[in-house]
Amino acid sequence: MAEFTQVSADAPIATKFMNWVDNRFPATKLFKEHMSEYYAPKNFNFWYVFGSLAMLVLAIQIVTGIFLTMHYKPDAALAFASVEYIMRDVPWGWLMRYMHSTGASAFFIVVYLHIFRGLLYGSYRKPRELVWILGCVIFLCMMAEAFFGYLLPWGQMSYWGAQVIVNLFAAVPFIGEELALLIRGDYVVGDATLNRFFAFHVIVVPLVLLGVVVLHIIALHQVGSNNPDGVEIKAKKDAKGVPLDGIPFHPYYTVHDIYAVSVFLLLFAAVIFFAPEFGGYFLEYNNFIPADSMKTPAHIAPVWYFTPYYSMLRATNDQMINVLAVMIALAAALGVLKGRFGVGGKLAVLVGALVTVALLKTFDAKFWGVVVMGGAVIILFFLPWLDHSPVKSIRYRPSWHRYVYGVFVFFFLVLGYLGAQAPSDIGNYVSQVGTLLYFGFFLLMPWWSSLGKFKPVPERVNFAAH
Ligand code: HEM
Repeated sequence: MAEFTQVSADAPIATKFMNWVDNRFPATKLFKEHMSEYYAPKNFNFWYVFGSLAMLVLAIQIVTGIFLTMHYKPDAALAFASVEYIMRDVPWGWLMRYMHSTGASAFFIVVYLHIFRGLLYGSYRKPRELVWILGCVIFLCMMAEAFFGYLLPWGQMSYWGAQVIVNLFAAVPFIGEELALLIRGDYVVGDATLNRFFAFHVIVVPLVLLGVVVLHIIALHQVGSNNPDGVEIKAKKDAKGVPLDGIPFHPYYTVHDIYAVSVFLLLFAAVIFFAPEFGGYFLEYNNFIPADSMKTPAHIAPVWYFTPYYSMLRATNDQMINVLAVMIALAAALGVLKGRFGVGGKLAVLVGALVTVALLKTFDAKFWGVVVMGGAVIILFFLPWLDHSPVKSIRYRPSWHRYVYGVFVFFFLVLGYLGAQAPSDIGNYVSQVGTLLYFGFFLLMPWWSSLGKFKPVPERVNFAAH
């Protein structure tokens, strides 16, 4: 048995209690390691509040979700009415539901900003590759969670949205039909689908999500936080081994984050109390109509946070496949003419290009649409190895890199807007350009990220007391 630490008999009762706990569970040790003796760079700016806000929204989603589950009925004949019952008859039910539906959108807003911060300051670069990859797993879980949850109110959009997305899996060559059947549990979206989506939404995905969030934080605390200058603070430590530019997370950043939480809660409450549907973006109007398998809505669109990917899916038609085939042929020709590799390498490039073009033309454009949509998220996993810039933070990159990021963000927003609109010719052309730019940003990053004149990175972080 481990030696127990003793405290003086006159110690305050709280000290005695903590000593009793610490002898059995490392509460104080954990608190020190992750809070009061976790040294975070002193130059964090507002971009660094979104991790804590994401944890807050996750907690809100879990707590409100528990209360919703107490009254919700996962049964195709009862689901829609049970949600209406929650809204009208369950005391505070409307609040739980609006907090949960607004929380879903808030989660994505917060996490998109959190990801963008990583992009700005190169937070995905060595030694934080695993923090980033775990973040990407979290993002995938969030998408799955939102997708499963959206079927539960059993409205028209729930039903037809699920129908469209599950049918996409049917486009996978050879196993598609069986795969779609496995997901649905039936030949059409129905009661079996609702039951399994409920199981995934309330237990499977949240468990995984929570677990991966814990891993995300453990990985972060292993390597320490990055900062807006992209300078590693662990490189310069005092005699006690404390980074010279580090300050204890608690109390400095707990206060910083409580401030952000207050601002966030004000905005969150404003939406819940004054605009819970948020113009049809947070709760779609068609979803106030019960699911009807005999009536397809004129225009089916996913919720706003999925629309950039939905645009990419719609943009991938036969015409786009031809453009891609021509681009691959041109890239291969360039590789053969200009590439600095031997005959064997050039032959491999040619064969690779031929096989890719043949595959592109063999399978349906719909299948490639699914690949493009999935690829748009999967490509994020590779970011740590795509970025070849000698510096981490945007602050020390060539000024024109800002325009590259600007164009990327602008087109991502345009894709998001177009994905929420009914399809049109012009919208489709713009989506195709946006899709090419999105993938170009990542795939050409090994080339463009190392171009230009980089600014000298300081030895210590920039910080002016305020
Ligand atoms: C439920 C969702 C998430 C939660 C609760 C969460 C939580 C956190 C927290 C608390 C931090 C430390 C504070 C901060 O730097 O803001 C952090 C850092 C970080 N997160 Fe997340 N995160 C989530 C999703 C993601 C996603 C989707 C990505 C990327 C795809 C990501 C990438 C990162 C990176 C790279 C850092 C280190 C940032 C730095 O040191 O500059 N996170 N996360």
